[in-house]
Amino acid sequence: MKLLVVGGGGREHALAWRLAQSPRVQKVFVAPGNGGTAREEAIENLPITDIEALARFAAKEGIAFTVVGPEAPLAAGIVDLFRARELPIFGPTRAAAQLESSKDFAKAFMRRQGIPTADYQTFTDALAARDYVAQRGAPIVVKADGLAAGKGVVVAETVEQAHAAIDSMLRDATLGSAGARVVIEDFLVGEEASFIVMVDGANVLTLATSQDHKRLLDDDLGPNTGGMGAYSPAPVVTPEIHAKVLREIIRPTVEGMAAEGNSYTGFLYAGLMIDAAGKPRALEFNCRLGDPEAQPILARVKSDFAAVIEQAIAGTLDAVELEWDRRTALGVVMSAHGYPANPRTGDRIDGLPPHGNAFGEDCTVFHAGTAEANGHVVTTGGRVLCVTALGDSVKMAHARAYEVLQHLSFDGMHFRRDIGFRAIARRADARSTPG
Ligand code: AMP
Ligand code: GLY
Repeated sequence: MKLLVVGGGGREHALAWRLAQSPRVQKVFVAPGNGGTAREEAIENLPITDIEALARFAAKEGIAFTVVGPEAPLAAGIVDLFRARELPIFGPTRAAAQLESSKDFAKAFMRRQGIPTADYQTFTDALAARDYVAQRGAPIVVKADGLAAGKGVVVAETVEQAHAAIDSMLRDATLGSAGARVVIEDFLVGEEASFIVMVDGANVLTLATSQDHKRLLDDDLGPNTGGMGAYSPAPVVTPEIHAKVLREIIRPTVEGMAAEGNSYTGFLYAGLMIDAAGKPRALEFNCRLGDPEAQPILARVKSDFAAVIEQAIAGTLDAVELEWDRRTALGVVMSAHGYPANPRTGDRIDGLPPHGNAFGEDCTVFHAGTAEANGHVVTTGGRVLCVTALGDSVKMAHARAYEVLQHLSFDGMHFRRDIGFRAIARRADARSTPG
């Protein structure tokens, strides 16, 4: 069968790569794909991004099913369009994708359903928002309601910073309509984790846990980015916390959406803050796989993933048991000069394997902002590569990823050296604590 993956980042490379390994899959089209998907055997790039044109392609080509990577086509209604034409697709409808595309929708939903999250209020008026911040004090978090490509969240350490964020979004409209409403919420303390599941409207299939590293620089310093690296599993999510997240956050979300007539299908990503007492709260929902979390998660999937998605589309996820590689997977993002503010493009990447993207069975280099040009691979975006390795411990996966990374180079490249540091420290702690 032939499949279609929509998107062109590292997450979509990993999705297409994993799907292409299913025994019944002849070819995976990736629209638009990148320089890495262009190098994979059973994968073909498709230079289409318009959702109407994608639906026509899927119909004409007899695509068995489509999987959507990023949020923008979901918010544009790609799932509604494909379903109206009876083209199988895995993802949430436009209405259900509001869990990600509107922070106000998500917060109001969580409040209605009693899902643990930070207290908040929503504003369209800058003066009222400023008053609320003055009352609540800092630190406090200001979030644009709409999709803002990672630029919509300001964690303000002072009241002045929060006021500046409010003015920039509500008064100066620097984020356009995405910032015409803002959610202001209490600052939460703890350790973050990514909890991603597959949902078929009613049944939930949990994927392996993971942790992202959002800041640009080592020790979690520097500006927020889309994610500089991730690993799976995340030991911060103990079995007790895992059960709590399912009971208090995931199930009430899936059941609440169904009860409100807005049934959820697709990947569902809860961004968690876990406090010192082990209480998880939802920071946000995404209606897709995380990027870069998808790279280590999919590197560990041993089941036939195309069959799993077929079950999800059929509404029979309760019949699926996923098999995982017991090893830890760890992915390190290599980003371009100037990322995230102003990434430079057009730098030539050296050291990639002559064919494909694998450095042996235990390491794959997933591409994001790359393209093939005149026999070379060049950078085309902020996040360029994600070197993803498997190892028997997080330390070994870390060592293997950085060993492979040494072979790769491009002008202006940047990467963090400490991906996985929390899990590595947790292990060291566990060993030094008696009993
Ligand atoms: P979001 O897109 O809502 O996940 O926010 C992006 C990042 O901002 C999160 O990954 C957190 O690091 C941080 N953040 C968001 N909301 C809060 C909060 N209420 N308290 C503390 N940090 C937050
Ligand atoms: N890595 C965070 C995200 O995909 O939103």
